[in-house]
Amino acid sequence: MSTQESIGVFDSGYGGLTILKEIVRRLPDYDYIYLGDNARAPYGSRSFEVVYEYTREAVHKLFEKGCRLVILACNTASAKALRSIQQEDLPRWDPTRRVLGVIRPSIEALENYSLNGHVGILATRGTVASESYPLEVEKLYGKEKFHITQLACPMWVPLVENNELDGEGAVYFVQKYMQELWKTDPRIDTIVLGCTHYPLLRPLIERFVPAGVKIIGQGQIVADSLADYLQRHREMDACLSKEGGRTYLTSEKTELFDRMAELFLGEKITSQRIFMC
Ligand code: DGL
Repeated sequence: MSTQESIGVFDSGYGGLTILKEIVRRLPDYDYIYLGDNARAPYGSRSFEVVYEYTREAVHKLFEKGCRLVILACNTASAKALRSIQQEDLPRWDPTRRVLGVIRPSIEALENYSLNGHVGILATRGTVASESYPLEVEKLYGKEKFHITQLACPMWVPLVENNELDGEGAVYFVQKYMQELWKTDPRIDTIVLGCTHYPLLRPLIERFVPAGVKIIGQGQIVADSLADYLQRHREMDACLSKEGGRTYLTSEKTELFDRMAELFLGEKITSQRIFMC
């Protein structure tokens, strides 16, 4: 396969595979290169500077591999690095390439879900501290339309990364954060899984969510948004190769990545090691 004009999908670890899975389902013909920076995950509690530096390096690697378009399939990276990469790095590297995130499409979708405007955002500490969700909501809809409650769930990524999806520990930490969320705003009618790892905990999350509350995962939303982007940007679409190729890169051991990726994707894959600085 030609990797010259692939779509790159990046996450700190495995979480972005939940996004890749839906993108591939929606747009199966394109070539994809997934990069998981597993050696340096999690990013969720790292500083702005470090997340920016790591993400910038990952995007650069994906460009070197021939990606023309990169999706930051990570809320933390989208919150802390996307704007700087778009505004400062891309114009210097190559203004014809593109980097897109997952936060904006999730916010655009909000009005299709919430009826009363009370929305809970579950995310990493880094994403919550960046205030990206409330700020983007205000930019898009103004101050009045939505009442946003953010909650950091720092124990959830380690649970997912360690495949602890339904044991006692997982039940405890899912129930704990959900109770906290409803204590803060009992009127919430929609929650956003604002971290790409969280969809794996969804069956458990659903057990602690009151009936009628909608849960938004980002995979399908990002996939639809990418399809729409490629429709609107025919010049980009024309550059992308469509041979159905899939390449998986990890900065950690490939054996572990392959085992975990099977859990996220529901199929066997073979990854390659990539060395980050
Ligand atoms: N998957 C990343 C996100 O969506 C978080 C994982 C991490 O903390 O590295 O925010």
